Amino acid sequence: SLTCAPLRTLLGEPLNLERHWVRPELLLVLPWSFVSGFRADPLRCCSAAVTMAGGPVVNTGGGKDYPGKLTMFVLFACIVAATGGLIFGYDIGISGGVTSMNPFLMKFFPGVYHKEQEAERNQSNQYCKFDSQLLTMFTSSLYLAALVASFFAATVTRVAGRKWSMFAGGVTFLVGAALNGAAKNVLMLILGRVLLGIGVGFANQSVPVYLSEMAPARLRGMLNIGFQLMVTIGILCANLINYGTAKIKGGWGWRVSLALAAVPAGIIAIGALFLPDTPNSLIDRGYTEDAKKMLRRVRGTDDIEEEYSDLVAASEESKLVSHPWRNILQRRYRPQLTFAIAIPFFQQLTGINVIMFYAPVLFKTLGFADDASLMSAVITGLVNVFATFVSIVTVDRLGRRKLFLQGGTQMLACQIVVGSLIGAKFGFTGVADIPKGYAAFVVLFICAYVAGFAWSWGPLGWLVPSEIFPLEIRSAGQSITVSMNMLCTFIIAQAFLPMLCRFKFMLFFFFGAWVVVMTLFVAFFLPETKNVPIEEMVLVWKAHWYWGRFIRDEDVHVGGADVEMRSNGKVQAAKLP
Ligand code: BGC
Repeated sequence: SLTCAPLRTLLGEPLNLERHWVRPELLLVLPWSFVSGFRADPLRCCSAAVTMAGGPVVNTGGGKDYPGKLTMFVLFACIVAATGGLIFGYDIGISGGVTSMNPFLMKFFPGVYHKEQEAERNQSNQYCKFDSQLLTMFTSSLYLAALVASFFAATVTRVAGRKWSMFAGGVTFLVGAALNGAAKNVLMLILGRVLLGIGVGFANQSVPVYLSEMAPARLRGMLNIGFQLMVTIGILCANLINYGTAKIKGGWGWRVSLALAAVPAGIIAIGALFLPDTPNSLIDRGYTEDAKKMLRRVRGTDDIEEEYSDLVAASEESKLVSHPWRNILQRRYRPQLTFAIAIPFFQQLTGINVIMFYAPVLFKTLGFADDASLMSAVITGLVNVFATFVSIVTVDRLGRRKLFLQGGTQMLACQIVVGSLIGAKFGFTGVADIPKGYAAFVVLFICAYVAGFAWSWGPLGWLVPSEIFPLEIRSAGQSITVSMNMLCTFIIAQAFLPMLCRFKFMLFFFFGAWVVVMTLFVAFFLPETKNVPIEEMVLVWKAHWYWGRFIRDEDVHVGGADVEMRSNGKVQAAKLP
């Protein structure tokens, strides 16, 4: 059965997206159209129910609804797995604070320290005072290591199961933390960071996929965002720890900050040992009986036959694919590949890590004293955690698209305000005395920007990639996402200080322009994925006005049945298996 109300523009004229999307005036109509209820989402307008003779009903609007509930077992497993996000978060939060501690700079980067002192004495250009490639290399070496590690992690995740990938991540991170805490020279420091990076590569590769596979479809968003929540908690803890250790008189506070990374590492390494593997992964590795038992346990019901046979079908299909890396390049995976690359790329181009890594440096630039700048970083950290809860409670109801579009708009508005406020005071010379009230105002808008990110691109940047790949390319696809994320994080970390020095306050407008691009991209190209079972996602792509053309009808299999779909919204039918 099919109900398909045509999309309409503001003027009420039916909108044919394939014909209209290149028209420039649409860009003007678009923001209003969202408000007035237009959606570039074919699933909402064409809610199709595909009935397979004698079989279940596949509703591409809402997805198949398998029996089962959210069991304590799943909830607990997901909480433990999500702690993998702590190591990533701790690391993001710790580097900015440590690199603004004078004893740390004096020991490892004396050149930067002297430049900073001089800038303070001369009241010279505030935009350029911390510009050192070696110092940024300390921050960003981790991301290069994570980039490479995620490719190895793909194999471990697929062959040995998700939990061993998490375990490997925790253990490597632990060694890195020890090396960093004991560092005597820059080499030890950077070597430690490389190990931390390998840990992050493994954890970020396996945790989001684990969560998305364990969760029942209708709660997948909520449970997956547990990962991002842990990332934000990690960042906040790191900020608080820096705040405390910066006060240590002996000048060794930075050692405590770096060594304490061992705590989150220990949590995920030990936690992973107790985690069950996902039914999807068990089936894929040939443990079919264990998988059945596990599925009963995680869904809290014996009525799992339907979901089980769909998982088996997905796994059998995935067995036909012997080279996930080569296969992911096939035309039929073009939509997933595009998002595996685009989502992390855009997530980083929101400019969030400028705030996360450099909040203390940035606030110092704004004229806060040492202590106040760490305090402001704590404030943004708190906003980051609390705003993440907004997405946890809304993501499976409102859907991914609405959060992306709202968050993008909010970030853009804040970037314009912050850029203008800083520009008005510092101008291009970078010399100014900023009154306290004024600086507080800037911090307020930075917080609103962080909140916008924390309920949109932050969590969705990990959730969406983890749920869109079919099983046969899931590990490979997730590696592409992780490595792209790390690559862009590396570039931004490395380029921020030189960019601040050259672009000055215009830097905020630079990232703002990217937010416009990514918001439009989501509006046109991202289908809604809420509530759709993970092994049925192909139906969503097939029904999309643009991506549908990349997927041949014979490539659409769900639960062993061939489903024939036409994305022009006219005919949808199913063939018997
Ligand atoms: C991003 C990080 C970012 C963090 C902030 C994550 O989703 O991948 O780069 O620092 O969110 O909360």
